[in-house]
This record gives sequence, structure tokens and C-alpha cells, in this order.
Amino acid sequence: MKEQIINKAIQVLDNNFQKGGFTIPSKGLYPFQWKWDSGFIALGFAHYDIDKAKQEVETILDAQWENGFIPHIVFHNDSDTYFPGPEFHQSHLHPLASKKYRSTGMTQPPVFGFILERLYEIADDKQDMLDFINKQIDKVYDNHVYFYKNRDLNQDGLVYIYHNWESGTDNSPLWDDIWTTMNPPEYTFERRDTSHVDASQRPSKREYDHYLHIIDIAKEHNYDDAKIAELSPFLVLDPLFNAILIRSNEALINLYQQIGGHQDKIDFLKQQQLKSISGLNSKLFNEELGAYVHYDLRNDRQIPYLCSSSFAPLYSGAPDADKAKRLAETMLKRFGDEGRYLCASFDPTHDRFNPKKYWRGPVWINMNWMLYHGLRRHGINDLADRIKADSLELIEKNGFFEYFDSRKSNPDSETNGYGGNNFSWSAALLIDFLKE
Ligand code: GLC
Repeated sequence: MKEQIINKAIQVLDNNFQKGGFTIPSKGLYPFQWKWDSGFIALGFAHYDIDKAKQEVETILDAQWENGFIPHIVFHNDSDTYFPGPEFHQSHLHPLASKKYRSTGMTQPPVFGFILERLYEIADDKQDMLDFINKQIDKVYDNHVYFYKNRDLNQDGLVYIYHNWESGTDNSPLWDDIWTTMNPPEYTFERRDTSHVDASQRPSKREYDHYLHIIDIAKEHNYDDAKIAELSPFLVLDPLFNAILIRSNEALINLYQQIGGHQDKIDFLKQQQLKSISGLNSKLFNEELGAYVHYDLRNDRQIPYLCSSSFAPLYSGAPDADKAKRLAETMLKRFGDEGRYLCASFDPTHDRFNPKKYWRGPVWINMNWMLYHGLRRHGINDLADRIKADSLELIEKNGFFEYFDSRKSNPDSETNGYGGNNFSWSAALLIDFLKE
């Protein structure tokens, strides 16, 4: 059984692997290389084809800009199955953008610190992997420096995102309150996503108008960070994004210590790390809700809703034992009734919850993977094991989907699997779960 499903996962990954040495998340729906996807994908490869794991990391880091920025999509190839493509994003507007690759001008969560660390754990030939890490690690470090230099507006160790696509949780109900502060033009464009996936599982047209409008504002200023910070209607501190940065800082420190030397970089990371942890705990923890929340910098207020990102700091080491316990209680109480798989992407007790619509409710495997490791880190093993078992069951019963209905008995549909099928990170992280 275990071997069989691992073999299926390997097939999914190998079919999505492209000649250029990178892997698409899902055929048709996502035909390019995505930043945080490629990190999770590399972990799957590492268990059976270490060369592909290295190539995956190499190709995404090769698209880094001269200022350390790493874009959220790298357009290695042409494809007419996705909108908005390279012609819309026009990354070349930024003077320091990659001259080699077209990309977007926004980023995604900085996973590569902990990805490199996990690759080292998985690799049989440790010396060979450490040599590889030694060649790549400064790029990841430069990416962290980019964030602290350009996106830590208040110098409190918390870095902002300027677009909902930067969060990775694209159409979360969190953003609804921000959309009411904006009034973008009605764009005319041809959606591609809804020709691959039923519209009931995707964002609305009006949401896309908001997404495109924020990019247009950034483009008007050639993706200049200072201008974006001044003018973007979307400017948010995301507990998921910052937790991942903190976890990756920690991994980079460990890896640099393993490599030897680099004291200046270790010092810088340690100093930022303290600030980031204290910023996360003081600005983003919501006592009433018992979990971390997002903060809208533009309108200077917390966004007081629970979602799977609210628990991501467990993975970063930022919460102390009391906070970690509190997070686990909140998760169980609001997301964890017996009739549900963990962990819904948005609060199932809230009226904005939608069990089928992308980040407005469904379970995502990459979030579960981080929550599993986060809970384990704090010794909250029962809940961790439940998350892992739920993830495996969802995939075994439904296939390697992009996201899943959290309701165990689902009155609306025969399957709990939604969005793109043969989805790469669902396959990659299943392998990592099973080979752990
Ligand atoms: C969707 C997800 C995002 C992911 C991308 C590619 O846009 O919201 O997190 O990176 O698909 O899989």
C-alpha cells in the first residue's frame, strides 16, 4: 500500500518535471515554475532522485534578481494556458531584474532556508549535499537580506507582502476587508484557470480585478520597493510569511555553522531573528482569538480572523510553550471537530468559510506539512499525528489534488479533491511524510 502510493506520487512528480530542470505545479493550470512550490517539490525528489531535487532548487535560485529578490513565478517557457503571463507582469521594468529569465515582480514565502536544511537531512551522501548547499546558500541569505532591507517598514523584524499572491493563500477571506477599501477598474481579460477547474472552486472575476490593479500600481513605479510601500493599497504583515522567514533564518544559521566561517552572516541572521520573533509575538498574536493574525499596515489594524496561517508560527519556534499550547487548543476547538479533516484553510465556524473555494476553506497539504512539523517541535504529538493521518487519507481516498474539502461526509460532491489534479506538492510532501 505504502509502496504503491509512493510510486504514484513519483509518477506525478516525474510527469510534471520539465526539460529545463524545473517542475510545474500542475499541467494546464500552472505551467511554469512557482517559488514556494519548487521548494516543497524538491523534498519529494530528494527521496528518490537527488539530482532532480538539486536542479529544482538551482533553477529557481538562478532567477534571483541582483537585489536578492526571488520572484514568485519564473516563466522558463511559453504557455497560453495561464493568465496573467509574462506580458502582463513585465518584470524587466525593474532595473535589477534578472536579464536571463522573465518573471513576475512579486515574491512568495521564503522557504529555501528550511528546504536546504531538510535536503541535508534526507541526503545519503552528506558531503555531496553540503557541497551543493555551500554553492546555493548565499543566494538564500541574500534573499533574506533583501527582505530585511526593503520590506521591514517599521524596523520591527516583520516584513510585509504587497500582494495577496505573495502570501501563497491567494483568495483568503482575510483580504475581503482590504478589497472594500479599493475600487479597481473593470479589466477585460480572458480567464484561463476556469477552463481547467470549475469556477465554484476559483476566485471571482471581481477579485481578479483587484489582483491585477495592485500589479498595475507596482508596474507604474517599475516595481520599486519604496514606492510600493508608499502606494500599494495592499500592504500586509502575514504570520505565515514571517514564520517561514524565521524558520528559514534558523536553518541558515545551522547550515552556516555546519559549513564553517561566515560569522558576519550568522551574526546578522541571529540579530534579525530576535527582532522578528519578538515582532511576531507582540504585533501579530491576538489574545482574544488565541492565535496569530494578519496585520493590515495600510489601514493600521489587525485582520482578526483565524486561518491555517494563524498556526504556522508553531513551525518557526517563535511561540513559547504556553503559546504553543494555546494555539493547539484554538486549532482543535475551531477547526478540529470530529466531522472534519484538519486543517481547513479558513475558520470553519465563520460565515466567510467556503468548503470548496480554494483558500476560503479547503485543506492544503503544504500547510498541513508545516503544521505537522510545528506541532511536533512542541511535543504536541497527538494533534500532529492527526494532521499527518488526515493528509494521507485525503490523498489516498481522492488522489493528488491541489486542495481538499475538510468535511468528512461531503454532501455536495462525491470527491473531496478539488482544483488541479496531479498536483506536485501534494505528491512531493506525501513522499516526505511517508519516508520520514
Ligand atoms: C496557487 C496557490 C499558490 C501556489 C500556486 C502554484 O496560486 O494559491 O500558493 O503557489 O497556485 O501551485
